[in-house]
Amino acid sequence: MNGDVAPVRASGSARPVYSRITGTGGYLPERCVTNDELATRVDTSDTWIATRTGIRQRHVAAAGELASDLAYRASQRALERAGIAAADLGLIIVATTTPDMVFPSTACILQHKLGNRGSPAYDLQAVCSGFVYALAAADSALRTGQCRHALVVGAEVYSRILDWSDRSTCVLFGDGAGAVILSAADAPGILSTHLHADGSYSDILGVPGRIDHGRIEGSPFVHMDGNTVFRFAVKVLAEVAHEALDANALAPTDIDWLIPHQANLRIIEATARKLGIPMERVVVTVDRHANTSAASIPLALDEAVRDGRIRTGQHVMLEGVGGGFTWGSVLIRW
Ligand code: UT7
Repeated sequence: MNGDVAPVRASGSARPVYSRITGTGGYLPERCVTNDELATRVDTSDTWIATRTGIRQRHVAAAGELASDLAYRASQRALERAGIAAADLGLIIVATTTPDMVFPSTACILQHKLGNRGSPAYDLQAVCSGFVYALAAADSALRTGQCRHALVVGAEVYSRILDWSDRSTCVLFGDGAGAVILSAADAPGILSTHLHADGSYSDILGVPGRIDHGRIEGSPFVHMDGNTVFRFAVKVLAEVAHEALDANALAPTDIDWLIPHQANLRIIEATARKLGIPMERVVVTVDRHANTSAASIPLALDEAVRDGRIRTGQHVMLEGVGGGFTWGSVLIRW
């Protein structure tokens, strides 16, 4: 789905319909694990992790705490800030790589916890690009008049799919959830969405295991070729940002806030450098959250909205990249 802003008229409506984020929320599990604590379990150090990734700590879900639990907390906060009730939601999308179970979807479980009934609810799997993909899907639904308010969540418990004895992966990820309420509006809001995927890269980042006749066939843990992921991420994050800027006749100087997927500070810095955007205009949470996959962008967005950095009228560029490979952008006028 590639779309710049084509004002679509909802059936029966006289006015073009756009979508706008009207509330954000985030939730991080209580337990925080520092690099020093990890260094007591695997052969690593705070210095190695901090210099290679920028990560200093990550949050880890409690035993039995599931993606829908984190999603529920983040969603409640987003609903509160948007000033609407769960019953007002006409669509629920949860981007997650770590669903509560094979089925029903985490979105249906979340819907029940929130007390909404009848609205469509589904999970979207695009790994670390999941939130950007989900926001694009919700934007389309709103612009074609399918609903007035959508809940879009990124929620992950990566701690469940990490091999905690593998230092090359376990230091990189964390758990958390971020949510937004996307509402129909007379003016954007979301200016454009651009999504991409290339499945020929499926081998370089993944959890290959699958359930097969009651057994798990293949590894149930995250595997990756870190160097290839690094290079690919920097390349496509710069490309997709330029694609969005060109579609909206904007320049990098017009971007007030860049919110890239929070995988590694070096990836973020290299992307910002390629785009000519100073780090003062980049939202960074990877130091405190680590890589929370589909939750990383909405968590960073929520933080920057709540602390007052993001203000009305500003241009905010969200961009994700993740396993698949998948990548994409959402450009917003706040
Ligand atoms: O959402 C996308 C998810 N994935 C990513 O974002 C990963 C992207 N890639 C990266 O962030 C980086 O490639 C890493 C952080 C994973 C690795 O950084 P690097 O600078 O590319 O290091 P490297 O892979 O070249 O490894 C250098 C050394 C190796 O030792 P030798 O072979 O040179 O002796 C590793 O064994 O660092 C070693 N190493 C570690 N040492 C201490 C790997 N992990 C660790 C560790 N602590 N945790």
